[in-house]
Amino acid sequence: MIDDLINVADFERVAEGKLDPGVAGYFFGGACDEVTLGENVSAWGHWRLRPRMLAGHGEWRTGSELLGGELSMPILVAPVAYQRLVDPEGELAMARAAAAAGTVMCLSTLATTRPSEVAAAVPGGRRWFQLYCFRDRGVTLALMEEAIDSGFEAIIVTVDAPRSGRRERDLRTGFGIPEGLGVPSVQAALGSERAVTIEETFALMDPALSWADLEALASGCSVPVLVKGVLTAEDAMLAVEHGAAGVVVSNHGGRQLDCAVASAEALPEVVDAVEGRAAVLVDGGVRRGTDVAIALALGADAVLVGRPALWGLAAGGEAGALRVLELLRAELELAMALCGCDSPAGLSRAHVRRAPAAPVYSA
Ligand SMILES: Cc1cc2nc3c(=O)[nH]c(=O)nc-3n(C[C@H](O)[C@H](O)[C@H](O)COP(=O)(O)O)c2cc1C
Repeated sequence: MIDDLINVADFERVAEGKLDPGVAGYFFGGACDEVTLGENVSAWGHWRLRPRMLAGHGEWRTGSELLGGELSMPILVAPVAYQRLVDPEGELAMARAAAAAGTVMCLSTLATTRPSEVAAAVPGGRRWFQLYCFRDRGVTLALMEEAIDSGFEAIIVTVDAPRSGRRERDLRTGFGIPEGLGVPSVQAALGSERAVTIEETFALMDPALSWADLEALASGCSVPVLVKGVLTAEDAMLAVEHGAAGVVVSNHGGRQLDCAVASAEALPEVVDAVEGRAAVLVDGGVRRGTDVAIALALGADAVLVGRPALWGLAAGGEAGALRVLELLRAELELAMALCGCDSPAGLSRAHVRRAPAAPVYSA
């Protein structure tokens, strides 16, 4: 059945039909009026590609290098919490799909499977760990240590959630994380005998994390540390100055601050501020290979996809998530080919321009 689904939008539709309305609201929804959620998708459409002709060699490779490692494509799986809500194997299935696609999976702090278990179950996979910092530094360090000891190659510190955004879909459906579904790595780091609820977990996180804390964390860490949730040139420069190996331009998929700038709009100023001193990744609203091509042309080293991979998982488990990743890879390859680029590195600012402004009057 999933072979009949030919693009991300098809997977979105099938996932929505399959999921219980409360769960669907949690995964599909954003903060408040969902302005940023919608603009994340539409903002990629504010750019147009400038393809070059007779410029290719007739062979195309989407493989690319990121932080010293080789990937099959510059498309990673974003950290998304509680994946067992949509599939009984949750993060394990997602990790297998990412490994089969030859790319990195980012495992959330709020994963329903521990980093060590994911590593044991999918030994060949490439993984990064997404970190929420806790008030108790011992808990933060225990989480990092488990991931690094299990072979996770980078830590992504999420900095856009000093508080949780107001998710009105959840308020309307009354959705809550089911009691039995805990976060075993946080439970272990806390030394708790029982599953900790999401509310308890958020209450233990540090709402006053500073750039100095970030620097201390990065300088004591044996793997690269990236900062996720940067939307301005100012913060991008601070991240680099405080030891980040990379920044992720992100507004958390429109789930935190509504009316925050769309990722595609924030990307150019971050790229310009970083000036090649660190990797620049971007997520939010990437639904097509042409979105990826635009991001790369604007100067991103790679993109991450959150909901698309999740929709794949919900629609068809591991095979569904893999198909979504393969479709995006194939779409990127086609976009590159039609732009006259043999590889992702060939895409540059010369390949993009602003879309024409919408007409003020329509006929
Ligand atoms: C249901 C859901 C849960 C998420 N959980 C996390 C998380 O635990 N940590 C994190 O850093 N980002 C989390 N994110 C944000 C994603 O990592 C990513 O920034 C976002 O989904 C990208 O937008 P997209 O879904 O349009 O691709 C979550 C997103 C969704 C939709």
